[in-house]
Amino acid sequence: MGTSTKLTFGSVQLPSAAAQAAQQILDRIENGNGDEDLIQELASLGRLREEALIDHRVTGAVFTPYPIAQELVDLLAVDVGEIVCDPSAGSGIFLLAAAERKFQGGESVSSIAETLRGIDIDPVSVEVARLTLKLWAIWRGGRWPSADHLMVGDGLLAVPEEWLGTCDVVIGNPPFLGQLKSETSRDRSRAQALKQRFGSRYTAYVDESMLFFLLAVELISKDGRVSLIVPSSTLGSDSSQLAREWIDSRLALSEIWVGGRSVFDSAAVDVIAPILRSEKRDECTIVRYETQDALVVPRPLPGRWSSLLAHANGVPTVAIANTRRLGNRAVVTADFRDAYYWLAERVVEAVQNDDRPKLVTVGLVDPFCYRYGDVQTRFAKQRFQRPVVKIEDNPPTRLASWVEQRLIPKLLVATQTRIVECYADIKGELLPSTPLVTIIPEQESQLWHLMAAVSSPPASAWLASAAAGTGLSQGTMRLRASLIADLPLPELSKAWDLGAELAHEIQENGADDELLRRFGETMNQAYGFPSSELLHWWISQIPKKRP
Ligand SMILES: C[S@@+](CC[C@H](N)C(=O)[O-])C[C@H]1O[C@@H](n2cnc3c(N)ncnc32)[C@H](O)[C@@H]1O
Repeated sequence: MGTSTKLTFGSVQLPSAAAQAAQQILDRIENGNGDEDLIQELASLGRLREEALIDHRVTGAVFTPYPIAQELVDLLAVDVGEIVCDPSAGSGIFLLAAAERKFQGGESVSSIAETLRGIDIDPVSVEVARLTLKLWAIWRGGRWPSADHLMVGDGLLAVPEEWLGTCDVVIGNPPFLGQLKSETSRDRSRAQALKQRFGSRYTAYVDESMLFFLLAVELISKDGRVSLIVPSSTLGSDSSQLAREWIDSRLALSEIWVGGRSVFDSAAVDVIAPILRSEKRDECTIVRYETQDALVVPRPLPGRWSSLLAHANGVPTVAIANTRRLGNRAVVTADFRDAYYWLAERVVEAVQNDDRPKLVTVGLVDPFCYRYGDVQTRFAKQRFQRPVVKIEDNPPTRLASWVEQRLIPKLLVATQTRIVECYADIKGELLPSTPLVTIIPEQESQLWHLMAAVSSPPASAWLASAAAGTGLSQGTMRLRASLIADLPLPELSKAWDLGAELAHEIQENGADDELLRRFGETMNQAYGFPSSELLHWWISQIPKKRP
């Protein structure tokens, strides 16, 4: 035992807790106490960095727990001698896990240091990564070089040229910066720079994490592999569709690691990690972190990654010929924000015998049911039992025509659900509030047929396969109007006619289990899927009656 060496730090000021913890780790190594659990202490330096961040939401800095980084490094089977890159390295947790795996595989510390690459926009995190790897190298009997391949910079816009096409493995957990919230949205000049960088693969609302996927594909060498942790919503979101299709045209989605919601301590978000490889396969393996089970399923169609999550959620597969789409027989629209603001000032509680248009919110729509008066609903920060809209004053022209177009027979679809929840407004007396989707049949006489198709088990399974994970949790979908318009319709048949009658009966008289089962069975037949698995799945997803 001797007096310990004082750690020297670069010019960047480290959080004092991290500096102190690093010194203690060095003391421990020098005193010969560096047993195998030291890796956990090295990993915890990043956590101290994360705790010192003022607002991690703005840069998306939510650091990965070491066991998760280790699991993904193992899934990618990072091998000795391979070049590993994390393009948003944070405090280097993935690089640490890769270093340790390579070391256990017999690679020397100096070779490992030569093959790890990381970049992050935050200089303090990069310094913590360097310090962590420096201590790791000492612990493993080597030395971290003064000139390493860790750098400060914008991963999307400033990776060194020589990294492109030369990494064997790209791994990490890029920032999740959704573009619908002002606190995480890009400013105009960055949006322009990214558009220039990624060209037609860039869309205004694409999550930053998906752009890191595009970068990763460019970084890897011919036989390289990629895995990045991203929010589940990127599997099916419209804004990531082009990116997913482009990725599919370059690499094969071979596995998908489903992390779920419990992965991060400091952020409640459902995450997944697609794993991409160069060799094409017909199948894809779903690996679930929570249960550690693996499920092999057919590879999804280009860009349709949500179908994997649907499989993982137990949604039966339905392949329906897409020759007749709902959008060819009806106008499918989402409402605009202006209508919401206009309604916000006009919704009031109904009086007796009120004949003003009733308001519908997503919370009031259940399958075949509009729960007006049964349950309270929230609208524009107020609670209502029986909300109606007062439109006795002259609405602005745009809204007057909106009211006119909505007060007609139509279908209303809730948008954050497990299965389709649709209600037919036969009398045309309801005004929908965003984000409900409205379906207006071209021919009014088709209302119940379209209701039966949209509410059918095959429709729910088809939509879940296209949008699983886009809702607030991995089990829910957010139904966009464009996706609903794409829904395939069955061939004209007696089964579909009967399905329409049953849909009408369920809505008029209330649903009992037997009637729902008959409806489900009939519409499965109409779609050519007389599958009891599909029927059982659909019945199990129907929301229980709320009090
Ligand atoms: C979700 S954290 C993950 C960090 C690390 N990979 C991990 O798993 O612990 C995302 C990291 O991305 C960094 N970051 C944000 N925007 C970036 C950009 N444009 N280029 C590089 N890094 C960025 C943040 O500073 C943060 O360290």
